[in-house]
Amino acid sequence: MSEIKKSWYKEMAVYQIWPRSFCDGNGDGIGDLKGVLSKLDYIKSLGVDAIWFSPIYKSPQKDYGYDIADYRDIAPEYGTMEDFKAVLDGAHERGLRVIMDLVVNHTSDQHEWFKESLKGKDNPYHDYYFWRKGKGKNPPNNWLATFPGPAWEYNKDLDEYYLHLFAPEQPDLNMDNPAVRNEVKDIMRFWLDMGVDGFREDVITFISKKEGLPNGIPLPFATGIEHYKFGPHLLEYLTEFNDEVLSKYDCMTVGEAPMMTPDLALKFIDEREGKNQTLKMMFNFQHMEADCMFTSFIVKKFSLRKLKAAMSSWQNKLYGKGWNALYLENHDQPRVISRYGSEKYRERSGKMLATMYICQSGTPFIYQGQEIGMTNIRLPELSMYKDVATYKSYNICKKLGFSHENIMKRCMHASRDNARTPVQWTSGKNAGFTTAEEPWFYINPNYTEVNVEDSEKDPDSLLNYYRKLLKFRKENEIVIYGKYKEHYRDSEKLFVYERSYEGKRMLVICSFSDTIERFKAPKGFDLAKGRVVLANYDYANPGFDSFNLKPYEAKVFMFD
Ligand code: GLC
Ligand code: CA
Repeated sequence: MSEIKKSWYKEMAVYQIWPRSFCDGNGDGIGDLKGVLSKLDYIKSLGVDAIWFSPIYKSPQKDYGYDIADYRDIAPEYGTMEDFKAVLDGAHERGLRVIMDLVVNHTSDQHEWFKESLKGKDNPYHDYYFWRKGKGKNPPNNWLATFPGPAWEYNKDLDEYYLHLFAPEQPDLNMDNPAVRNEVKDIMRFWLDMGVDGFREDVITFISKKEGLPNGIPLPFATGIEHYKFGPHLLEYLTEFNDEVLSKYDCMTVGEAPMMTPDLALKFIDEREGKNQTLKMMFNFQHMEADCMFTSFIVKKFSLRKLKAAMSSWQNKLYGKGWNALYLENHDQPRVISRYGSEKYRERSGKMLATMYICQSGTPFIYQGQEIGMTNIRLPELSMYKDVATYKSYNICKKLGFSHENIMKRCMHASRDNARTPVQWTSGKNAGFTTAEEPWFYINPNYTEVNVEDSEKDPDSLLNYYRKLLKFRKENEIVIYGKYKEHYRDSEKLFVYERSYEGKRMLVICSFSDTIERFKAPKGFDLAKGRVVLANYDYANPGFDSFNLKPYEAKVFMFD
């Protein structure tokens, strides 16, 4: 059996901030860095070890920061470079690392490079992007963007098209151009030299496109994806970034990797001697497709078996070879209690879900508001939405013939805006997010019940459970380094697994059912001999190997 290597990035837990909705420090209705500074003690109190910032750079905000106009400057509505340095220092003083979002598959169309590239073929920046002649009256190929719509935008002056895999305001960078790769390395050095501790690398697995940009197999959206989802030079470019920059710093990286499988991931994240570990971890999407297909707009009934199969395969295949990034929420995913849990059993199911993923092997990521159990807002009118991807998805559904009512249901369920409402700090005006009359975006009306202030006062709150859970993880190496083994994989109601490490064993039992379920200990476990170390109802040991689980119950037994 392979020895498991220890490392700080494996032991940490990360808190993700989506800055616009985190906390408004200057009363203009928009979250900002002053707001973050004022909440550093709160973040530290959760028991996390790092903050990942969704993009805070200068940006026209067409995709809320994932369209960068200047990689070395802060968006004025979020503050100044001084403000950022104050946050960085404040975080470091508290023992919190800071991870930046590195978005280099594309820039904003307002980036200087793109503006230069518009000046024509002879401009050196022209080749920073994918400019191509059309085929007659048609675009250069049949690719469609992953935000539904065409992947090519025509420019009349140049009589050429440029490629964009996301919104038209997000032109794709041509990573095959060595000058572009040098820019990326310089950006990495700029932030690492300033003292940041690593990067979350946005759709990094899309950066290499197949030579010649051939037509793709027709799909309703993302046609052509087989030619760039893990393109021909991806490993080579990631190796170059790692060899020349990242490996020279004590930093961590996590690459966002749509459609990634564990076998393929190991090509990039294998940490064993003689292997090429270009990234420390990857965010995969397989476990976020237990209630949908590709996008949460294509809704399916939640399948616990699908969720378990996805998570267990990553757990099993990476053990001793690579490292998992664990998450259930981020700024792209609707709130998880509204998807895999139950709003009726909001805190119970929130605790169960937290137990289910944080007790697995990997580095857990927690998205702002997840720790208090924020839920989907379900905006009823299309005009209430802000997210560009939601509008694009609306249009494609319309084209496919769905009725307005049907599509609005999908938006309420699937829009990324569900996760982007302001954090609910108090039960007071604007949920304590801003002192302005109007926040930049709607606040979920449940803030009177769901907020940090009230959760702080209740020792039994979800918030305090997250603290307990993260402390438990930190104090028990088995949670971090233990081997994973699943039980009852066919059950559609129970997610049961064990962890084992240096002679100890731990049994994690999670019910995804809203009624009572009978549980029987797997062979080889004598529950009476175990200690209940985590529970979302009561900590009593039932004393028998068979007992009833209450709705969304979670119970963790330790056998030392
Ligand atoms: C990633 C980001 C998402 C963004 C997209 C394009 O998936 O997480 O928010 O819209 O990339 O940059
Ligand atoms: Ca502000």
